[in-house]
Amino acid sequence: MANKNILEAPFVNEMKKTTQNMYQHGWDERNGGNISYILNESELEDYLDLSDVTREIPLIFDASELAGKYFIVTGTGKYFKNVEEAPETNLGIVRVQEKGHALDLLWGYEDGGLPTSELPSHFMTHISRLKVDPENKVVMHCHATNLLAMTFTFSLDERLFTRILWQMCTESLVVFPDGIGVLPWIIPGTNEIGEATAEKMRTSRLVIWPFHGVYGAGKNLDETFGLIETAEKAAQVYTLTQCQGGIKQTLTDQNLRDLAAAFHVTAKAGYLE
Ligand code: 13P
Ligand code: ZN
Repeated sequence: MANKNILEAPFVNEMKKTTQNMYQHGWDERNGGNISYILNESELEDYLDLSDVTREIPLIFDASELAGKYFIVTGTGKYFKNVEEAPETNLGIVRVQEKGHALDLLWGYEDGGLPTSELPSHFMTHISRLKVDPENKVVMHCHATNLLAMTFTFSLDERLFTRILWQMCTESLVVFPDGIGVLPWIIPGTNEIGEATAEKMRTSRLVIWPFHGVYGAGKNLDETFGLIETAEKAAQVYTLTQCQGGIKQTLTDQNLRDLAAAFHVTAKAGYLE
């Protein structure tokens, strides 16, 4: 029975808190960034009549592998800054139609809005991650400042990019042992960047879009935020080392191997010497 107030639903509150937090970190200026988060039917049916479709939204790609799944998604052109005060216009809850070429809008986007323009990257990443981790629920994109800056000053070789982030904080390797994928520059919002992102996401939960931002995937909002936060912290430390005159000493590959053994993680093959 859909008799509860959706504005008090835990998943709406989590989206409000996460978008506000990301905005406060300076990673989501204006409409920058977007989030998609898989919800279960059982989480929704107390709040919404799931047969009441307010609008159909066409898709420019095939999402049939996600048919029947429910998502809460930030709106295109909407500001993370404003989600907290008006979730019903800045967020939407959608269900992927059986044929995968349209969405049923069940709640939100109240001013006629649409889901993020980055939906191809989000949905293709969900498809990709669900194949390797059935518990993956969240895809998150933002313009994390120091990671973005490093794409101008540091090598875009993903092994080198991963290694420097692992070296900048002892926690990095433990949090993202699979490393960070790096794409070439591609026009955002396209199926092409979606396919390229999803391909990298098969083996890594973090993907850099040079001169733009970062994608993260994980099992809940907190954990996915924490993943991006850890990589961004490493990038910030790298930035500070350059301001302080450069790196004089760092974690050795043996240190990193010992760390991986102590925390029972496996560093991406071939990334340690
Ligand atoms: P949207 O406003 O469509 O979500 O796009 C923001 C963005 O960061 C594009 O990469
Ligand atoms: Zn962006």
